[in-house]
Amino acid sequence: MSSKTDACFSLPIGNWRPEVDSAIQKQAVDALESGRVVFLPNLPFPLTAEEKLYLRPDCVSPKGKSVKYSSANKKLWGLAKKETPEILDLMLERYSKSAENLITTLFPGYAPALLTGNASYRPVEADGRVQSKRHDDRLLHVDAFPSRPVRGERILRVFTNINPNGSMRNWRVGEPFADVAARFLPRIPAPFPGSAKFLKLLKITKGLRTPYDHYMLGLHDRMKLDTNYQEKVEYAAIAFPPGSSWIVFSDQVSHAAMSGQYALEQTFALPVAAMSKPETSPLKVLEGMKGMLLVPITY
Ligand SMILES: [Fe+2]
Repeated sequence: MSSKTDACFSLPIGNWRPEVDSAIQKQAVDALESGRVVFLPNLPFPLTAEEKLYLRPDCVSPKGKSVKYSSANKKLWGLAKKETPEILDLMLERYSKSAENLITTLFPGYAPALLTGNASYRPVEADGRVQSKRHDDRLLHVDAFPSRPVRGERILRVFTNINPNGSMRNWRVGEPFADVAARFLPRIPAPFPGSAKFLKLLKITKGLRTPYDHYMLGLHDRMKLDTNYQEKVEYAAIAFPPGSSWIVFSDQVSHAAMSGQYALEQTFALPVAAMSKPETSPLKVLEGMKGMLLVPITY
């Protein structure tokens, strides 16, 4: 097991619009793009008294594990039927804006191209849910969306542990992306000709699944389904305490959420061209290995 210090770049900032100089910004972007977790040990997200009433897992619809919120559409879903949405609406809107401020001040180069996606509130304990292996986030994986093709864009995520009882959110971080890709990419068959159109037609995907999305989903599934890999591969164990936040490119960093209850999360999309070192992106790494474009113009 490698140490937490390798996997994390720790930054002791204390607010969501931090005043940091360009040297810190450079260190942070280098760490993030090289596949480290940017760990903010002193960045809590305080809840109002009304919001604290929702620190219970039964506010989520019985079928789901999180309440989701789109800041762009001002829409909330995944709430149990008996609940009223107003309080969580405001909480997630505030979290969404806070996470946006954090990313745009810490990584100013990303600001013009950053797309704010969904936020989520996760009040259900991560350990102990019965799921299929593909859906089990306690297994090491890189993120890939089966129904929403990202077309090479990065998946950037901000998390905050808001547990009121002092419980950690426990993650594992596995080997670097290039090692994951070298191990699994050669085993993934090319997509069937015409399959992208077929998946779109059947409404399995929103838009065409590009070869990049096909291979990323292949990595995600093959990592999770390989029991031997899960048991043998090296990882660093990271415990995120309540009152801490962390930022990660979850399409690049092999990660597993082992346990923890009550977290907030905001997802962003970022075009590869907006990165400081685009060559570190999964898109460029996979294209280098395949020797071809994985998001062709025809898609
Ligand atoms: Fe994940």
